[in-house]
Amino acid sequence: MNIRTSLSERVQSAMLAAGIPEGYNPHVTPSKKPGFGDYQANGAMGAAKAMKRNPREIAQSIVDNLQLEGIASKIEIAGPGFINIHLDQQWLAQQLQSASQDERLGIEKKSAPLTVVADYSSPNLAKEMHIGHIRSTCIGDAIVRILEFTGDTLIRQNHVGDWGTQFGMLIAELEEHMQDGEHAEFALKDLETFYKQSKKHFDEDEDFKKRARDYVVKLQSGDADVLALWEKFKNVSLSHNQDIYQKLNVSLTAEDACGESFYNDDLAVLVKELKDKGLSVESDGAQVVFLQELADKNGDPSPVIVQKADGGYLYATTDLAAMRYRCHTLKADRLMYFIDDRQSLHMKQVFLTAQKANFVPPHVLLEHHPFGKILGQDGKPYKTREGNAVKLSDVINEAIERASEIVRKRERKEGDELSEDQIISIGEKVGIGAIKYADLSKTRTNDYIFDWDAMLSFEGNTGPYLQYAYTRVASIFRNAGESLDTFTGEIVVEEEKEKELAIKLLQFAEIIEQVSEDAFPHVLCTYLYDLASLFMSFYEACPILKADSAELRASRLQISKAVAKTMTLGLDLLGIDVMEKM
Ligand code: ARG
Repeated sequence: MNIRTSLSERVQSAMLAAGIPEGYNPHVTPSKKPGFGDYQANGAMGAAKAMKRNPREIAQSIVDNLQLEGIASKIEIAGPGFINIHLDQQWLAQQLQSASQDERLGIEKKSAPLTVVADYSSPNLAKEMHIGHIRSTCIGDAIVRILEFTGDTLIRQNHVGDWGTQFGMLIAELEEHMQDGEHAEFALKDLETFYKQSKKHFDEDEDFKKRARDYVVKLQSGDADVLALWEKFKNVSLSHNQDIYQKLNVSLTAEDACGESFYNDDLAVLVKELKDKGLSVESDGAQVVFLQELADKNGDPSPVIVQKADGGYLYATTDLAAMRYRCHTLKADRLMYFIDDRQSLHMKQVFLTAQKANFVPPHVLLEHHPFGKILGQDGKPYKTREGNAVKLSDVINEAIERASEIVRKRERKEGDELSEDQIISIGEKVGIGAIKYADLSKTRTNDYIFDWDAMLSFEGNTGPYLQYAYTRVASIFRNAGESLDTFTGEIVVEEEKEKELAIKLLQFAEIIEQVSEDAFPHVLCTYLYDLASLFMSFYEACPILKADSAELRASRLQISKAVAKTMTLGLDLLGIDVMEKM
């Protein structure tokens, strides 16, 4: 059930019945201020303007035709032609009753689901993942989970950087280690050190440099021995990443890794096609697509190099091949890319080139969902004290340690103490939840400051606060001697706080719809935060276990259960776990 959709449909019919031509949006939204009803329909103004009629009169004729019996308790016209709708409490109670008894909380699957290919995480394999990778990994994973929930078919693509000249250097290094009798897995245990070693070697040792270059050539020409070393490197690196995904509760699996090298054989074919279509032309020996559509302020077209003068292919060439594969082989209807905002021009270039070359069918949606940087307290990109990138594995470990410490120190009632095992397991969920939530709850297009104390706080818009809202309900049920899973009570909506909470709960469907369209996870975070806050004030205002009657107690328990279920599902869609005790 989606309140906004139900109301929109009804206002839309009323507009037609009132003689307003088709095509005007009823503009139904939740009211922002108390006293203006629960929802507003603001479409009368737009229609009146276009029809050159008095907006209040138009609003009146819409209201005269509006069929909301049993749904609204009052409809009024305000200001220049706003229609304020007050929802009926009994109707709300019924809606919430059925939503709260449904696994999907009353949210139907899409009638026309899509096949969505989501490109996210996608680190380069030469190094270990660093803190910045949290963004694409967690934002992408949240959106994928949400779309899957709405009924879409999701194909995850981890477009890892597993190709390029740096692999020659890494292979040369690996070969040296193995000649000394070392196992590849051992040599690559610390990828970061390994990378630095080989870079140092490369910069200081001319022989090594030459060997590295030879390896690049051999790798590109498909030399079996060199390929085998490269495979080794790739596997170790991928399994490092897989470890991180598992700790972060990210749904990417090894099968989702489809790196740049996958497209190697298609690149020559693709460039030839671009040439044949007259899209790519020679410029200083290179093959370049010039895009007038993306011209700079001097009117010069934007150049996309698809093949270098030395014959090598580029990042853009691979992305074009990947787009074609995703549309034609994977049959995508929607391509989503979760990549930072520094690659916005690159994405525009490949989208446009692919469309012009007919690599993607016209119906396919092409979407880049960019995000900003993670900054330190000083407002500069987050780095270690020595100025290095912070390893993601270190961030994860520190989050778990800090969270466990906080859980360990919390005051507890007698008899409610936690064992050390429980503390660690709660620490994991709280720590991981905190870093993910800190990232997801910020408007993704902005930069944000990484702040341990803020993200681990039990107050405010944080992961721990939301997890705590769930445990609060769990503990109410424990005290009531009822089971959260199997309890059912009949909901009545009487108090103002009950009504506000009921409406908020029923708006979950609208939020899911919005996030599945715009891919801004913070919208879901803000919703869950508002829900948790409303629950806390409901809990203050409306006694649950000490309610005046058994009916009221049952109703309020059922409302609380709806809160717990919404919180669990909402956090799960963000890839965050809840727990019974904290
Ligand atoms: N590996 C790239 C990087 O680290 C990101 C790849 C994103 N996906 C893509 N299809 N271009 O910058």
